[in-house]
Amino acid sequence: MTLDKPSVLLTGGAGYIGSHTYVALTEAGYRPVILDDFSNSHPVVLDRLAHLTGQRVLCERGDVLQTGMVAEVLKRYHCVAAVHFAGLKAVGESVQQPLRYYHTNVSGLLSLLQAMDSVDCRSVVFSSSATVYGDPASVPIKENFPCAPESPYARTKLACEDMLNSLAASNPAWRIGILRYFNPVGAHASGLIGEDPHGVPNNLMPYVTQVAVGMRDKLRVFGSDYPTPDGTGVRDYLHVTDLSEGHVAALRALIAKNQSFTVNLGTGEGISVLGVLSAFGRASGRPVPFEFVPRRAGDVAQYFADVSQAQALLGWRATRTIEDMCRDSWHWQQKNPDGYRTSMSSMQPASSHRNQEPAMPLQPTVAGTA
Ligand code: NAD
Ligand code: UFG
Repeated sequence: MTLDKPSVLLTGGAGYIGSHTYVALTEAGYRPVILDDFSNSHPVVLDRLAHLTGQRVLCERGDVLQTGMVAEVLKRYHCVAAVHFAGLKAVGESVQQPLRYYHTNVSGLLSLLQAMDSVDCRSVVFSSSATVYGDPASVPIKENFPCAPESPYARTKLACEDMLNSLAASNPAWRIGILRYFNPVGAHASGLIGEDPHGVPNNLMPYVTQVAVGMRDKLRVFGSDYPTPDGTGVRDYLHVTDLSEGHVAALRALIAKNQSFTVNLGTGEGISVLGVLSAFGRASGRPVPFEFVPRRAGDVAQYFADVSQAQALLGWRATRTIEDMCRDSWHWQQKNPDGYRTSMSSMQPASSHRNQEPAMPLQPTVAGTA
């Protein structure tokens, strides 16, 4: 193991956002170390990460709830910080299984923090969510807006934020970055890593790409009578690569500037469901069949972020457009019709992205899992 670069533990680093952040951190000169139990990810992502970065992937298979093991991993790799992605994220499922959500999300964070404390590693970036705001009284949403989480999932995120804030107040050695993500979508421009939902997607973008590729017949647009310009729900969609770069900026602010913070990560722009469909049509050349159906329970009409805090504190802002998000989601879907079950050698390069293929030849797995 090389010690020339600062090592950062990525819990849940094999997942959708974690894997993109792995690439961004590697490019920024960090040495990310993944800890993942693969409960919602596929080990093949490790091959893809090795291929993309040209480096051996450091990964430990394990559950973040095992505090002693987490402390061992932090010590073994001399981690200077952790980014905590590991958790459960389906709003509807959290209503059915609240105890499972509190256990994994809240006890999981507690376990990580206890492990970090025991080895004197006290810089942590936490994946929170815009869902903590609930239905905002106005938009754009600022970080000091009241939090009113509406689902058990959202309440676990707020409970985690409370735990982190209590810790920061107790000991100034803790440096804590809470990132409230808006709607992450898209995939790495290479088409090698992306979002791989199991079963029927709950979220808009993976559903749209599955309709476009012919796996599903049409999109059901939930609600056409919202008080928004075209009657459909408005969200702040954020390219996952921009989001991954936000984590690099957050770590730099924590480590170099010794700051703790809570910031929104979004673009600051609200886009309706019909707006996404039209951008997707432009980016892919494929119109997406859809029908209007009644509103989905629990959805709010619109939300988007005030992103001035992220710019001021982290020097970060999103640069990728909704067309970029749609193009890269579509590219990922085309190249990986079976998600990570698609083998790299059988992947079909999409013509518009050939110049973004990694130049490396295909290599055998170099990921080390324990
Ligand atoms: P994901 O499910 O793709 O990734 C989470 C990873 O954590 C998976 O690889 C899973 O195997 C792993 N994991 C789960 N429980 C674990 C445990 N106990 N120990 C070790 N590993 C475990 O999810 P994602 O979309 O990459 O989200 C990452 C984080 O960001 C989550 O905390 C999520 O709540 C938060 N978030 C996501 C979104 C979104 O829309 N994707 C929005 C806001 C916040
Ligand atoms: N939508 C449809 N049809 C679909 C899926 C979604 O019309 O098949 C609409 C929704 O009604 C909403 C918009 O598309 O107006 C976006 O819906 P998503 O499900 O993609 O995203 P949400 O804003 O509902 O929620 C997401 C994550 C949450 C997270 C929240 C804030 O799913 O976990 O963003 O980060 F908390």
